[in-house]
Amino acid sequence: KIFESSEEASLLVANEIAELIRSRQADGKNVVLGLATGSTPTKVYDYLVQFHKKDGLSFKNVITFNLDEYYPMEPDSIHSYVRFMNEHLFDHIDIKRKNIHIPDGTLDKEDVRDFCEAYEEKINKAGGIDIQVLGIGRTGHIGFNEPGSSLKSKTRLVRLDRVTRLDAASDFFGLENVPSKAITMGVGTIMAAKKIILMAWGEGKSKIIQQSVEGEIKESVPATFLQHHENCDFILDTAAASSL
Ligand code: GLP
Repeated sequence: KIFESSEEASLLVANEIAELIRSRQADGKNVVLGLATGSTPTKVYDYLVQFHKKDGLSFKNVITFNLDEYYPMEPDSIHSYVRFMNEHLFDHIDIKRKNIHIPDGTLDKEDVRDFCEAYEEKINKAGGIDIQVLGIGRTGHIGFNEPGSSLKSKTRLVRLDRVTRLDAASDFFGLENVPSKAITMGVGTIMAAKKIILMAWGEGKSKIIQQSVEGEIKESVPATFLQHHENCDFILDTAAASSL
C-alpha cells in the first residue's frame, strides 16, 4: 500500500491497531502487539498517544513484545530500546507495566539462552502476536535478523551486520561504540504473528523494499521471507516505493 506521505500511512496503521484494541475491549479480551523501534514507527506511536489522550483509547488490555534490544545494553542508556519505547509510547499511555516485554540487554551471557526461550513461551502463553509492526534495515533485516537468518529462527543472541552498525554509528557517536550483538525475536517468531505490518519511508529504503517485495526469497535478504506470510502489508510512502 503506497501513500503520499508517511503521516498519512502512519495514521492508517495507528487506526488499524486502535480498532483491534477497541474491538477486543468490547469482548473483554487482550491484544498482543509486536513492536519495533527505529525512526520508522515513531509517528504511529505519536498517533496512539494522541488517541489515548484525546479520545480516551485505553491500553489496559494490551500486551506488548518488542522485537529486539542491543546486547549488552543498560535500560537507562540513551541508546536502549527500553528507553526509546518509554519515551515514544509507554510513558504516555495507560498500559500495565507487567504487560510490557522487551529483550533484556543486561543479562549475563550464560542466562541469555534461557531468557530467549522464556520470551518465546511468554508470547505463546499470551496467545501469539496479533499485529507485528516492523521497520526494515538496509541489509533487509527485520528485527535484528541479519542476512543468513533462517526462516525458522527464534529469539536469540545475534551478531550485527557491519552495514547495520555503520547505520547506527552516528546515533552512537562512532562505530566503535555500537554494540556488536543484539537479542532479537527470530524470523520464525515474526512469521508466527497473525498480521504483519512492515513500514518504510524515504528513498533510502527503496532498493531494499524492491528486493524484499519482488526479489527471490532467500536468507541473504531476510525480509523476503515475508512473501510467505498470508497476512502481511508493506506500508510505504511514494519514495520508498519508487523502485517497485
Ligand atoms: C534497527 C532496528 C530495526 C529497524 C531498523 C531500521 O536496526 N532494530 O527494528 O527496523 O533499525 O531503522 P529506521 O526505522 O530508523 O530506519
